[in-house]
Amino acid sequence: MSRLSITAYSLGILFFLISCSLSIFYGYKVVTHHLPQEQMANKKYKYHFVLVPEELDNEYWRLVEKGAKDAAKKHGVMLEYVGPKQANLDDHLKTIEMSAASKVDGILTQGLSDAQFNPLINKVVESGIPVITVDTDAPNSKRMAYIGTDNYYSGFLAGKEMIADTKGKANVAIITGSFYKNHQQQRVKGFKDAVRSEINIKIIDIEESEISRVRAAEKAYQIIAEHPEVNAFFGTSALDDIGIAQVIEKYNKQKQMTIIGFDTLPETLDYIKKGTIKATVVQEPYKMGYGAVEMMINLLKGKTVPSIVHTNTSILTAEDLPLSPLGRLEENK
Ligand code: BGC
Repeated sequence: MSRLSITAYSLGILFFLISCSLSIFYGYKVVTHHLPQEQMANKKYKYHFVLVPEELDNEYWRLVEKGAKDAAKKHGVMLEYVGPKQANLDDHLKTIEMSAASKVDGILTQGLSDAQFNPLINKVVESGIPVITVDTDAPNSKRMAYIGTDNYYSGFLAGKEMIADTKGKANVAIITGSFYKNHQQQRVKGFKDAVRSEINIKIIDIEESEISRVRAAEKAYQIIAEHPEVNAFFGTSALDDIGIAQVIEKYNKQKQMTIIGFDTLPETLDYIKKGTIKATVVQEPYKMGYGAVEMMINLLKGKTVPSIVHTNTSILTAEDLPLSPLGRLEENK
């Protein structure tokens, strides 16, 4: 072999080795590979946390992220927000697993289902990485703490509101984010318990939206077609009521329909102003994110942290939205 070909050969091997190690590094450090390198290099962070939401681009979760990022900025924490683009349990679990593999200092996430989440949460905590549940608890796991809504109570509040708004007489359809996830099950259970004693409130149908507004609208169409007697809807996740309201307006049935939803996203507030949605359950996503980061810092500093912090839950109706000088309803700022 000539000297030239030996050099080319060695360079080839060197190139191969470099690309192998790069792909191993990036494959392993999946969680951090998308971070701007400058951010990583220039700043010294005290801790590195990961927030794994149910759905990345969901407007509700963007509020949790905002709270978490603000707290992280204040306390010198690097916070990554990573998870499934669209709600997907496997992706969610994989992201938690990868975050643990890249040895972050703490993981903030939901406890969506006991069977799938608890064993993983336990494994991560046993490996020395604390997990705090946010928005949806996993009380039977080894998670260190929970911050978020009391989901059963929030459903109960919605049920009481339904009774008040319909004077105890309604044929209700429920559209829920999922039949299998803890928070959605608890909300439905709370609602059912609240209306149980009302003999004239009947639950006609329950359908699943997979937390998608489009799916919620499809299910609302289907319900109206199959059950013309339905005159009330309860949507149990942030986008359900928006999907329902679109359909109700399309059929021009606002007058005879009582819709109760979840969360205070701008579209929901618009529908409340117009009277299409009667009431919504208020959650505090920003506070959940902010509080979760501070709780994690306290845990890492060895401080005692309450095992459950319930953020506030209440009902909002058009009356809670102040009138502008022109008589239009304005949302609470
Ligand atoms: C729930 C979140 C959920 C979101 C879906 C909210 O009401 O608290 O857990 O991911 O709805 O849009």
